[in-house]
Amino acid sequence: MATDTIAARLLAWYDAHHRDLPWRVAPPALKAGRQPDPYRVWLSEIMLQQTTVEAVKPYFAAFTATWPDVASLAAASAEDVMRAWAGLGYYSRARNLKACAEQVANSGGAFPDSEAGLLSLPGVGPYTAAAIAAIAFGRPAAVIDGNVERVISRLFDIRTPLPESKPEIRAALEPLVPPNRPGDFAQATMDLGATICTPRRPRCMLCPLREDCRALSTGDPEPLPLKAPKAERPARTGVAWVAVRPDGAILMRTREAKGLLGGMTEVPNAGWSERTAPAVETPPPIAARWRKAGAIAHVFTHFSLSLEVLHGEVADVAAPAGHRWVPALAVPGEALPTVMKKAIEAAVPGATRKRPGRQTPETTSRND
Ligand code: ADE
Repeated sequence: MATDTIAARLLAWYDAHHRDLPWRVAPPALKAGRQPDPYRVWLSEIMLQQTTVEAVKPYFAAFTATWPDVASLAAASAEDVMRAWAGLGYYSRARNLKACAEQVANSGGAFPDSEAGLLSLPGVGPYTAAAIAAIAFGRPAAVIDGNVERVISRLFDIRTPLPESKPEIRAALEPLVPPNRPGDFAQATMDLGATICTPRRPRCMLCPLREDCRALSTGDPEPLPLKAPKAERPARTGVAWVAVRPDGAILMRTREAKGLLGGMTEVPNAGWSERTAPAVETPPPIAARWRKAGAIAHVFTHFSLSLEVLHGEVADVAAPAGHRWVPALAVPGEALPTVMKKAIEAAVPGATRKRPGRQTPETTSRND
């Protein structure tokens, strides 16, 4: 199989069929000399780790509108960044994002332009370093995400299951990377995986590599890549208490900076962080009439969670130590992870949704 034909076919397909994405410099503009902005490439790649293109788009637009460059993001408050990130998940990415922006801003404001230099930044692992090096700086890096693993496994009919096949996939991909257009090649492989070489029912008739594809010529590409069976996710249970004042304010607190959902806002809750036994927990120290509002489920990477949600009507009292009352209008602007939005919605439907036409205050009242 001629490796340069594969790259040429893929790039010709990309020229005609690339997705228009807000962080991408499309081939005509790139050929006309427009340089990709490393800040936008970095920001998009961090957001796209574990999150779909469609989910990332509005967050990317909001971030770049508020913080158009690395200096402005470095100068932002950690709270504002967490708030803007809320809903995207995997919140350590937001903490690292801020730390990385500060590191780049404090060392002259330019991103390192090599894979090795990029790898030294907070939150930048091998995939992201390769992606930024190729896309922003034209380095001939092999960029391997889940889409690329699928494309290469099928193209070379790799039947070793993942993750054991990773070195084989890398060895097959590296010789394909064209030195003149490594960024476009990386994005073309990702686009092919997202739109043609899809996990189920790949559209092989439309594939620019159908003549090169060993899995297609010898059988059925769809089952590839094979995957080693995953360990089962443990199930955890817990309780969340949604205390509501007569004016609609909701009792909240901020999680510790480190660890799962670190630095994010939550309603008082307990029982699920470490154990699997049903929780018998004490509600927050506040006088309330608690009633069952429902139960919600949420899947984290390493466990699944079922939370019983209790709704409590509370008189107009001060927030207990470590808690604060968040006025109803400010709730949608809080840095609430999805699991907490679900819990609050179970008790107070609509509370976390932004209300059109009404101003959401920038900050919440801190009366703890
Ligand atoms: N997924 C992650 N990064 C991407 C990119 N630059 N283009 C398309 N899909 C992606």
